[in-house]
Amino acid sequence: MSEPVVSTESIAPDLLVPEPLVPEPVDFPQDRTCPYHPPTAYDPLRAGRPLSRVTLFDGRSVWVVTGHAEARALLSDRRLSADRQNAAFPLPSKRFSGLKDRRTALLGVDDPEHNAQRRMLIPSFTLKRTAALRPRIQETVDRLIDGMVARGPRAELVSAFALPVPSMVICALLGVPYEDHEFFEGESRRLLRGPEAADVEDARDRINGYLRELIERKRREPGDGLLDELVTQRLETGETDVDELVSLAAILLIAGHETTANMISLGTFTLLSHPEQLAELRSDPVLLPAAVEELMRFLSIADGMLRVATEDIEIAGVTVRPDDGVVFSTSVINRDGDVFEDPDALDWHRSTRHHLAFGFGIHQCLGQNLARAEMEIALGTLFRRLPGLRLAADPDRIPFKSGDTIQGMVELPVAW
Ligand code: HEM
Repeated sequence: MSEPVVSTESIAPDLLVPEPLVPEPVDFPQDRTCPYHPPTAYDPLRAGRPLSRVTLFDGRSVWVVTGHAEARALLSDRRLSADRQNAAFPLPSKRFSGLKDRRTALLGVDDPEHNAQRRMLIPSFTLKRTAALRPRIQETVDRLIDGMVARGPRAELVSAFALPVPSMVICALLGVPYEDHEFFEGESRRLLRGPEAADVEDARDRINGYLRELIERKRREPGDGLLDELVTQRLETGETDVDELVSLAAILLIAGHETTANMISLGTFTLLSHPEQLAELRSDPVLLPAAVEELMRFLSIADGMLRVATEDIEIAGVTVRPDDGVVFSTSVINRDGDVFEDPDALDWHRSTRHHLAFGFGIHQCLGQNLARAEMEIALGTLFRRLPGLRLAADPDRIPFKSGDTIQGMVELPVAW
């Protein structure tokens, strides 16, 4: 028997109950529509409360933090864990599902293990140690621009400049032979952007295998990089073991080149898309450190830090329960209008001191001093030496990276 059809037209208007205004949960993460703005699909999160519910690729509902004050509180709260091996740890994409089966040093462990690992590395990343690397970074940048000029007046900036600068610098710092860059850059790309879980796992295994061999070689013939120092001062003394050292080396090598490369490429694209600001920066290079800091806030390329709760946490009128996934949308947090006035404008005259683009709390970026030095030297020298630098393609057609990985340009065709 068919159901009787009831038309709302036959019901008195005052008996019609309006639909409750419950917003649809937003999917997370999503792709940006403009490479330097948060995804427009996050607009309901920006307009809403400091913590909301979002849905991951596997249908799981987790918390997303978008309020700046709440993000700082939660990122320094020991009841949130970074342990990727926790079964309840949230994943941003299916392709990262295989990464839970092994320990990730630093970024994937909690204190006290985290603290012990970080203490071994801190002396190599201080402001002073990084300042001492500046002449070498400048030399690298100049050499790469010389090469571009010789082959110019056009280039694909990611492969000619944005990637080799941090790659050469991190190789020199760690004592990894730069001759192997095509291998580790390619595998890092597969690890972050490989289409399937099998690509991601295979890339991780190949990078780890490479670093294991390199460490064994350094045990026999020590050189003068940070990995050599860790081998002689921490491995041979029993303070660490080979598995931990391989994992530390992997995170330093990958985080050390991929992130900064994306900041240089996306930073260049953004400046070329903001001619007024770029003209100001060119006429007054003293503004460079402030410009780099504002670009960090504005671009928020690590847009989706991940944690899992281990205890109840009361915050902003909600209770985060044990095993709840918690993700942090850095791009939205860094555009919180209560902290940054006119947050969608690129403006280095504001105070950007409190942006969270390098994270916050115990996992705050270890390489931030190095990254700042590289960005200042790379962007400053590029725009000084190539005053006619411009995009060599329609900006709407230049490919940029998807939302579940570090943001940046896939390619950047330029001319001068
Ligand atoms: C502009 C470039 C960079 C950006 C945007 C960036 C961003 C970040 C962010 C957001 C975190 C915290 C992640 C979290 O809490 O879940 C982090 C951690 C980390 N970064 Fe960076 N990073 C950059 C450059 C570098 C460089 C050059 C290195 C090099 C050696 C590096 C090494 C690390 C390490 C080892 C951690 C983990 C620290 C810990 O868990 O204690 N990063 N980075």
